Amino acid sequence: MRGKHIIVAVSAGIAAYKAIEVVSRLRKKGAEVKVVMTRNATNIASPLTFGEISGHPVALDMFEQVHQWDVEHIALATWADAYVVVPATANVIGKIYAGIADDMLTTTIMATTAPKYICPAMNTEMYNNPITQRNLEGLRSLGYHIMEPAEGWLACGVTGVGRLPEPVAIVEWLEAQLCKTSELEGITVLVTAGGTQENIDPVRYIGNRSSGKMGYAIAEQAVRMGANVILVSAPTSLSVPSGVEFVPVDSALSMQEAVESRYKNVDVVVMAAAVSDFRVLHKAEQKIKKMESMTLELVKNPDILQGLGSHKEHQILVGFAAETEHVIKYGQDKVARKNLDMLVANDVSKSNAGFNVDTNEGYFLYPDKEPKEMANMKKSELAQYIMKEVVELVANKHL
Ligand code: CTP
Repeated sequence: MRGKHIIVAVSAGIAAYKAIEVVSRLRKKGAEVKVVMTRNATNIASPLTFGEISGHPVALDMFEQVHQWDVEHIALATWADAYVVVPATANVIGKIYAGIADDMLTTTIMATTAPKYICPAMNTEMYNNPITQRNLEGLRSLGYHIMEPAEGWLACGVTGVGRLPEPVAIVEWLEAQLCKTSELEGITVLVTAGGTQENIDPVRYIGNRSSGKMGYAIAEQAVRMGANVILVSAPTSLSVPSGVEFVPVDSALSMQEAVESRYKNVDVVVMAAAVSDFRVLHKAEQKIKKMESMTLELVKNPDILQGLGSHKEHQILVGFAAETEHVIKYGQDKVARKNLDMLVANDVSKSNAGFNVDTNEGYFLYPDKEPKEMANMKKSELAQYIMKEVVELVANKHL
């Protein structure tokens, strides 16, 4: 988002306060942000706060300053690389679609040629009203990008669809659309993520400490590069990245089934999941009651990646490894054993790499190239490096 010029336009939804965090998050990602507010929105959230957080004076539709509009709305419109309405009320959506331009928000959005993003937020009945739906559909057909509202508790005291999604999700959605390239256009990338869970009984399982962050960051990056992305995920606490086909699984066997059944039509598989090496032989049908001691018999799970490697055709396979010693040697053995095109070998003897931390370090290993050292970096940054390597592998294989 670095260097991008984004206009955040705030209309008078009760969720207007959430736009403050959207502005803050966009700036943290390096974007320059200017805020436009409707007159009514200033009754809900303070222009002063938006001015402070964005670092620019807020453009308001104050009639007493009407003489400034002409200049300001055109200047803002041409400055923008993207125009985001958050929250977008039923009223402002209707006005935009009808071509009404009677305030700073509706004038600037009409005057800009930048891509436009609308985040509707309103009461469920208003959202479902055929008039609102017609207007949204109309805007969509004109090339406006519309974010699906979330479901949940609404200000009017009921639960339903119409809630403004959380700021983190809005920024992620914008990032996925704005930072899109075409490097992986036409390529299908399947990413696995999270730690599988092996049931003991209906309420207990054997799991591991994988957060899923690495796989989710890779899936997001692949979306940004224009790939069709399938995210096969064991349970995590992360929200589903926008633009992916999401396939939730739990155990190693269910992950294997999800991956194998799609393998033929996939170009790249990135196995970032922490797959449990064992599962419980006899799962209890009912909850196991307390006892003095118990023994669980475990059987080996299939190695999903090795299985894919054994019947690889055109696919590119990327694996991960967590090693505590002889990182390069053990890693290279894995590349050969699993028939991989690339292995991200993490050195988890370092306290700042591997499971449940935000950073990784180690080596990229290949069957036919020298290892590349990877410096300690954030998983989101590492995802960019990994996917750049994938772009090169795809180009070399002429996929
Ligand atoms: N993997 C898999 N299926 C398994 C276990 C692992 O597909 N049952 C995948 C992981 O997603 C990862 C890679 O294989 O991409 C490496 O897994 P790892 O557990 O580090 O390696 P192992 O081959 O199990 O070797 P070792 O036990 O020696 O560490």
